Amino acid sequence: MEFYWRLMIYVIFVTMVLMCTAGVMFDFHPMMQSRNFSTHERYCHDLGYDGLAIISTPEAYHYALKLTEYVRTVLSKGFYLGGRYRPEAGLVMWDDDTVPRSDSPFSPYPPKIKSHLPYTRMRDTGKIVMATDYAKRSGMCGNHNNYPTESRGTTMRGKLQTIERTILSGSQVFSYLECALLCGMVLDCRVAELNTDLLTCTIIGEYNSTGYIANPQIVSYIRETF
Ligand SMILES: *[C@@H]1O[C@H](CO)[C@@H](O)[C@H](O)[C@H]1NC(C)=O
Ligand SMILES: *[C@@H]1O[C@H](CO)[C@@H](O)[C@H](O)[C@H]1NC(C)=O
Repeated sequence: MEFYWRLMIYVIFVTMVLMCTAGVMFDFHPMMQSRNFSTHERYCHDLGYDGLAIISTPEAYHYALKLTEYVRTVLSKGFYLGGRYRPEAGLVMWDDDTVPRSDSPFSPYPPKIKSHLPYTRMRDTGKIVMATDYAKRSGMCGNHNNYPTESRGTTMRGKLQTIERTILSGSQVFSYLECALLCGMVLDCRVAELNTDLLTCTIIGEYNSTGYIANPQIVSYIRETF
């Protein structure tokens, strides 16, 4: 009985995720007008967005790069983004309260804290840097909902990564698909490893790869990075 409940919940879960990801993954709206940070943010709210766009996942980043390619590379324009220095935390955070991943394209990472540069922007090169409030630039609005997003990655079979790594979680799953989906829902996930014998899914964060050893029970999902 319990198994059927789990199976049912799993089917509902996968269906929901597939429905979410089949539509628009990221709702970003570039605004070409030159305005300062707070004015852009106000316009974003007026348009019904949560604020300026947050680029907390590799998938969001690649989408934002594509969306702004012409404007950045031909018009050499950058965009204000929804991240800022939070004095109470002593950190730069995205406006959904997440801390930028260590492989985020911040230049430099971690972002240097300077009191006259409290906000974030994407340069025309695609690098993310700290910015003033007063400079007039373009901006990009976005919604901050943390829906499970479609993640992009590749599958690697029969190998176990022999790496220094951070294990973020482990759980029982029904399938490789579920394991890969779990990875997409965890901001810090870089790799998800499925043990096909035990049906355990290990979500792995930061790692330094030092090679692989053969292990036929392991199927790994290597998530695309920034
Ligand atoms: C941002 O622009 C608005 C509208 O032009 C202006 O009222 C406000 O003082 C500006 N803020 C900064 C910090 O420059
Ligand atoms: C990877 O290597 C760097 C530099 O040697 C180190 O600072 C970091 O902690 C390592 N990461 C992991 C997950 O072991």
